[in-house]
Amino acid sequence: MPDDFDRMWSDLAPVGRSASTTGYFRQPFTSAERECRAWFVEQCEARDLRVEVDGNGNTVGWWEVSTGSTTGGAVLTGSHLDSVLDGGAYDGPLGVVSALAAIDVLRDRGFAPGRPIAVAAFAEEEGSRFGLACLGSRLAAGTTTPEQARSLTDRDGVRVEDAMAAAGLEPALGRSDWLERVGCFVELHVEQGRDLVDREAPVGVASGIWPHGRYRFDFTGEANHAGTTRMEDRHDPMLTYAMSALAANKQARLAGQRATFGRVEVAPNGTNAVPSRVTAWLDARCRTEVDLAALVGAIEKQAQDRAGRDGTGLVVTAESVSPAVEFDPSLAARLAGDRPVVPTAAGHDAGILSAAGIPTAMLFVRNPTGVSHSPAEHAEIADCHAGVDALADALEELAS
Ligand code: GLV
Ligand code: MN
Ligand code: MN
Repeated sequence: MPDDFDRMWSDLAPVGRSASTTGYFRQPFTSAERECRAWFVEQCEARDLRVEVDGNGNTVGWWEVSTGSTTGGAVLTGSHLDSVLDGGAYDGPLGVVSALAAIDVLRDRGFAPGRPIAVAAFAEEEGSRFGLACLGSRLAAGTTTPEQARSLTDRDGVRVEDAMAAAGLEPALGRSDWLERVGCFVELHVEQGRDLVDREAPVGVASGIWPHGRYRFDFTGEANHAGTTRMEDRHDPMLTYAMSALAANKQARLAGQRATFGRVEVAPNGTNAVPSRVTAWLDARCRTEVDLAALVGAIEKQAQDRAGRDGTGLVVTAESVSPAVEFDPSLAARLAGDRPVVPTAAGHDAGILSAAGIPTAMLFVRNPTGVSHSPAEHAEIADCHAGVDALADALEELAS
């Protein structure tokens, strides 16, 4: 079994590696992600899994059962193959590779499933291209409508369906029929913090996901000459933005929550001009939905107050807000045994499927660096193997 995991891991290792760092950029519907998807299809076919690609760009390999009752629906596992800009190797692919390796373990055990087992590679989980995280699973579950998805464009103005068609897919946005066959979902994922390191556990189970959201802050001002405009005459949206970024950090620290401005666009983006516009994206995450609303409200109030003093304008748009997720407690308990059960502030397709009413659980594999969304993300190979075993045990129990 370990060889199978190791071989698959090294197959994927060169795909989408950034030229200048040790990180990865597997942007949805581009050549790197397309290569990962082709690799996934090949691996499914090598295991006689029937491959289905839906109109949302999600790919699923099915281990069908030929006889007997399939009460309860299929047991779904898998994760995603896309990455953030300059991300690590593990966020997403670890869940897909471990799912395929877990199928191998079950076959080696001679296991005959009583329910179909399916492995999914969901599309655009990170929202790195179209801004909306978990786009593939949201469309599949009907959480995002085709109309909402059609209104999205990437940074070059390319629309979702055009990007999919250019990647050789046949877009037909909307609920995915295959999801109706799914009775439960177990997603394995690299841990994105240090809980399992601190608890000295190679594998843990997720209890739930913090509510979180992405908010676009459009700051507008007056473009002007950097040399001739007196400081007191300026309406500089960069200043309003800068103060807002500091306010976000302070408010989140005070409240024990999370707030990040990680993406900024400036117009016209010239060294010798006061900008006319700054657009910045706030990512905020809190323990409760009430806390999230309060945190974003406090940040927006400080930003608006500052805009008033700077003579700039500010419009805040919530681009996506995901409610709190509590994973199925009985499923979590069944998977946990004596493993730690921990919450996470990272979003996942598992959160979308859980919110859509599918009993869902997550397994986390220890990340010794505790760092994620960065090339420094890591998991030791022995822990990856422990994750595969834990997933195989879970699938065997659920599909018996
Ligand atoms: C996805 O990884 C997210 O939490 O943003
Ligand atoms: Mn992920
Ligand atoms: Mn991620």
